[in-house]
Amino acid sequence: MKRSFYFLFIVFLLILSACSNSEATGEHQPPEANTPSDKDHSSLSNEILVAYFSCTQTTEKIASYIKEKTGGTQYQIRPKVPYTEEDLKYYTNGRADQEQADSSSRPEITGSISGFEKYKTIFLGYPIWHGQAPKIIYTFLESYDFSNKRVIPFCTSHSSGIGSSDTNLHPLAPNAEWIGGKRFARDASKENVSDWIDTLNIKIETEKENMQFYFMIGNTRLAATLENNAATDALKEKLKSGPITIQMSDYGGFEKVGSLGFDLPASHEQMTTQPCEFVLYQQSQLVIFYGSNHWSYTRLGKITGVTPAELKAILGSGSTTITLGMSSVSSFDLDSGVNGRAPTIMLNSGYEMPILGIGTYSLHGDTCVQSVLSALESGVRLIDTAYMYGNEAQVGQAIRKSEIPREEIFVITKIYPGEQYSNPKKAIQEALDKLNIGYIDMMLLHHPGANDVQAYKAIEDFVKQGKIHSIGLSNWYIDEIDDFISKVNIKPALVQNEIHPYYQEKMVVPYMHSLGIVMQAWYPFGGRGYTREMLSDKALVAIANEHNVTTAQVILRWHLQRGVVAIPGSSNPDHIKENISVFDFELTDTEMNAIATLDRNEKHDWY
Ligand SMILES: Cc1cc2nc3c(=O)[nH]c(=O)nc-3n(C[C@H](O)[C@H](O)[C@H](O)COP(=O)(O)O)c2cc1C
Repeated sequence: MKRSFYFLFIVFLLILSACSNSEATGEHQPPEANTPSDKDHSSLSNEILVAYFSCTQTTEKIASYIKEKTGGTQYQIRPKVPYTEEDLKYYTNGRADQEQADSSSRPEITGSISGFEKYKTIFLGYPIWHGQAPKIIYTFLESYDFSNKRVIPFCTSHSSGIGSSDTNLHPLAPNAEWIGGKRFARDASKENVSDWIDTLNIKIETEKENMQFYFMIGNTRLAATLENNAATDALKEKLKSGPITIQMSDYGGFEKVGSLGFDLPASHEQMTTQPCEFVLYQQSQLVIFYGSNHWSYTRLGKITGVTPAELKAILGSGSTTITLGMSSVSSFDLDSGVNGRAPTIMLNSGYEMPILGIGTYSLHGDTCVQSVLSALESGVRLIDTAYMYGNEAQVGQAIRKSEIPREEIFVITKIYPGEQYSNPKKAIQEALDKLNIGYIDMMLLHHPGANDVQAYKAIEDFVKQGKIHSIGLSNWYIDEIDDFISKVNIKPALVQNEIHPYYQEKMVVPYMHSLGIVMQAWYPFGGRGYTREMLSDKALVAIANEHNVTTAQVILRWHLQRGVVAIPGSSNPDHIKENISVFDFELTDTEMNAIATLDRNEKHDWY
């Protein structure tokens, strides 16, 4: 009933005022531009902008549903010269037809958005005009800086799909993170819109999740997971302005306690704490347990990656200085790197991993030994191998031969679907034996396949025994990750996927970051058969000339500046040295934008 009324209402509008501009007729409510929503704000409300252009209120209706659902701010993009009914009659060579046919047309916009910088996520709505977004949307995108903003297009149309109308907008804001757009029919319901937004929710919350909480005790950095409550929200807010150092001392033979120096909102309850947990006592006391106690506390979180005995040893006895901090898995401290020594990133497992390494995919026999030795001599400390590469023994041999302290080197290997996932314990032990370097820093599942959960859980058992430090996945994408994580106990610390300038994974990278997972690129130069083309790409060569570096160095620096770890493969000592020498130059925003536009969504290998 409601729906049919709505339909009649829309038809009525179409007949009476169809393509007249609401501003001109005065029929339309003034837009709520520039004023925050007066709804009960969610924590996201200030970050979301719902910008739209609409002549006959179809797109506006969808925009209002999005605003209602997200608590965002609604903003109508209004043309300086309103569109009359005549202007909008299509296939008449009227004004709209002419603008759409003219690639340089940029209809002027009246008014502007105040405080545009504060919006992180921008829903951008428009009607389809001749298969594309109206040119005023182009004007809009060219009027603001969309760097580091997430843009989610939506459109309405008579019958056309969204087609290329959204992707054709990407070059106008190349440094934005573009999410695939969605077309709605004229009669789309609030539920349709709400269901769509639900599929985006996690991406909207990216910033909330990608920070890793840690403790620094002496030289040891321990990762921790935080509870979801008002006390941890307040703690995170405090830590945004930098780490906090506190003095802690032993109490009761089961805990370390110290004052944070400020109050947190407590919600105490009686509980029995477990070793490695940390809680709030009273309003301002931080308590870390290496034993257990029954008392009234507010849970804050849990230290991960260490056994209770290890934690006790790290905490030491008596007075201990402890620093609490937050670090991001999506941005690296590139200033701390020097050529020949890459900085590290802290994984959610609590271990530090260098952000640049060597891949050994096609290296065999003595070539592999020599290449890894050469890499180690050049300062590379991250080495990636796999059962499938058939060279774990040679990688191990080179590491032992180098005589570099084992703990300075980070080794990744992988087990493979099929026989290895069916009998994972044997496969993992085989990797340990072949490498013969004591422990493995990180073991990955090579790609999804039958029994992958079982294989992952077997790796978890080896983590418990201290034989493997961290676990990750390779060739895992958005569709598979949530379901997988829900079935395992230890969250993956790393996802290693094909990523390069022609296949940038613009959705997968921020998605994994939002889960606290570090991203790593295999085929960072495009992969075999494509590297030559990529290294001679005109845009990349021009940037390389500007900095007096090689194209390969530009590509590696691009990976690192967008928060992706890279593992280029090479057996050439000069290239290996060159690849670890990307810390004496920096790509500008314009250069990063230019590389962002090279994306062709072109995958060069099959998984
Ligand atoms: C100039 C012009 C061109 C259009 N081209 C198309 C089109 O290619 N495909 C389509 O399905 N609808 C087309 N439409 C219809 C609109 O996309 C549709 O009515 C839309 O929902 C109107 O949105 P609005 O009410 O927010 O202005 C066109 C409308 C106009 C005015």
